Amino acid sequence: MCSVVGYVGHPLGRHFILQGLSHTEYRGYDSAGFACFDIKTNALIAIKSIGFVEALKNKVESTDFDGNTVIGHTRWATHGGLTEENAHPHFDCNQDFFVVHNGIIENYHIIKKDLERRNHHFYSQTDTEVIAHLLEEEFFDNDFSIEPEKKIYTVIQKLQGAFALVILARRYPEKIFFARNKSPLCIGIAHDYRMIASDILAFGKEVNQVLYIPDGCSGFVSPTDIILVDNNAQILSYAFTSLIYDNRSTGLSGYSHYMIKEIYEQKSAVIDTVMYLNNNHDSLHHILGLSIQQINSLEHIKLIGCGTSWHSGRIAQFFFEEIAGIQTAVHLASEFRQMRLFKKSDMVGICISQSGETADTLEALRFLGANTIHTIGLVNVEYSSIVREANGSLVMKAGPEIAVASTKAFAAQVASLYWLAHYCAVIKGISNEKALEKASLELINTVMVLDEVMNRYAHEIKTVWGPFYSQFDRAICLGRHISYPFALEAALKIKEIDYIFAQCYPAGELKHGPLALIDNRTPVIVFSVLDQISYIKLVSNVQEAKTRGAHILAFLFEGQDELRDLADTYFLIPIVPALLAPLAMNGVMLLLVSSIGLHLGLSIDKPRNLAKSVTVE
Ligand code: BG6
Repeated sequence: MCSVVGYVGHPLGRHFILQGLSHTEYRGYDSAGFACFDIKTNALIAIKSIGFVEALKNKVESTDFDGNTVIGHTRWATHGGLTEENAHPHFDCNQDFFVVHNGIIENYHIIKKDLERRNHHFYSQTDTEVIAHLLEEEFFDNDFSIEPEKKIYTVIQKLQGAFALVILARRYPEKIFFARNKSPLCIGIAHDYRMIASDILAFGKEVNQVLYIPDGCSGFVSPTDIILVDNNAQILSYAFTSLIYDNRSTGLSGYSHYMIKEIYEQKSAVIDTVMYLNNNHDSLHHILGLSIQQINSLEHIKLIGCGTSWHSGRIAQFFFEEIAGIQTAVHLASEFRQMRLFKKSDMVGICISQSGETADTLEALRFLGANTIHTIGLVNVEYSSIVREANGSLVMKAGPEIAVASTKAFAAQVASLYWLAHYCAVIKGISNEKALEKASLELINTVMVLDEVMNRYAHEIKTVWGPFYSQFDRAICLGRHISYPFALEAALKIKEIDYIFAQCYPAGELKHGPLALIDNRTPVIVFSVLDQISYIKLVSNVQEAKTRGAHILAFLFEGQDELRDLADTYFLIPIVPALLAPLAMNGVMLLLVSSIGLHLGLSIDKPRNLAKSVTVE
């Protein structure tokens, strides 16, 4: 996913665009671009750079180009390599239209072939460039009797796929044209300027009103006007809403990296979320968009997400089934719509997403909605598309999560779903308010344990284990029962942050094939479990690996001496409620993973090839 930003206003806009791009760089950092109507020369200029926004900032600030109408872009590459040619903005043969785009034009191939037949010359490998050439064609007739926004409308009817477009047109230096289909786009108003962006985080701090552009709309923003054209070419009326920023700092607060900061914010993320749930206990059914009766007769839950959010769903399956007795299925959002849906009247779909913008999860939510299944969003961003489109939404209180790898949001997801399972059990009459209060205390005690274990091992991890494990280029993660999905999460983090090829298996599966991978260059990382039967089985599985010469690193709980004796290295964790074992292990796991990444000199906040959430399918 990319980030698009635009600015029109009286203070010059260069500063606002560069700031907006750095605030939304988590959306993609393969390259960046800037374009403006330069106030001194009236020229339409573009500056592009490869890599982080900082590189673009240095390039732009080495010139004195600036203007009142400016656009910018950060890129997460989908089409074409990481080159300056492929960086946005893209333009047509005459450089009359500058386009920045977030999304994928699925039919760009056909359009490009057709345009090449009509002698358009392409310089990039991107899908986006076709849009600039289509605009060139549409405006070629110089017929000023047709409003430009109508011509923009005509062009976007030719596009298939997801797009948020922000466009500068040489003939209209005071206007920024835009169009949206699926990819998020919003307009922000401040006293003497207006901005348009993929995410409100790009807006200047003076912006206090926001308009979320409805899907399928296009139009323009100028210093005096905003025109919205709907997907029937009708002018649409609109209303702004007040913009409430989550004023918890998005700064580093003295930490070296956002990931480290957010690892240490797990405790407050979980406690603030649990407090919010307890304080809204009486009206929670409204927040979920359900009646008490509907919750009481709930028999089927579908948990849907991607990446780390899918892993918290896999862990929560144990919560809803063991605590609330509700049959629960967990689905990867990117696969969900292609599977047969066995609809039940007493079914809800919970779509789990930190950002609330991940396209796969959003499309799964729309699919459930189209099949009249009640949808609930579990998100960490109040103003996200999932909150706007779900029937009900639980917005966690983890605070802004900037680092690409999800850490505190995962902890808050696991805590929210544990609490929600207990809440459903009370409503269904198989538990009581006392048990729900106890569950809240269990969550708070568990994150205290998480924090205490981190502090106990932080120095040792930084000086010994981070450097030690950075020598390996592969690893096998094992878990059993509820620690298996947690082992999946750990393996993902080791891939995302350390670029180490980490595979994950349910420990019982090792002997059915993966055991062949065991050698002294492949550490086996074991995540223990507090379910007694599963623990005993896990010890046997680890014994099998040990017998083949494996190096064992174990995350284990007090009293688990059998596993401790098998381990070459271990992190000892105080006992917590069995179903909260993953939460207790999350802190020390993330500290180790981040320490390995730092020791390898990797960018732990912005790992290569990734983005915070991906708004293309
Ligand atoms: C990926 C992120 O792009 O999206 C992961 O790198 C994240 O960290 C996944 O888990 C899903 O994102 P979200 O916002 O839907 O939870």
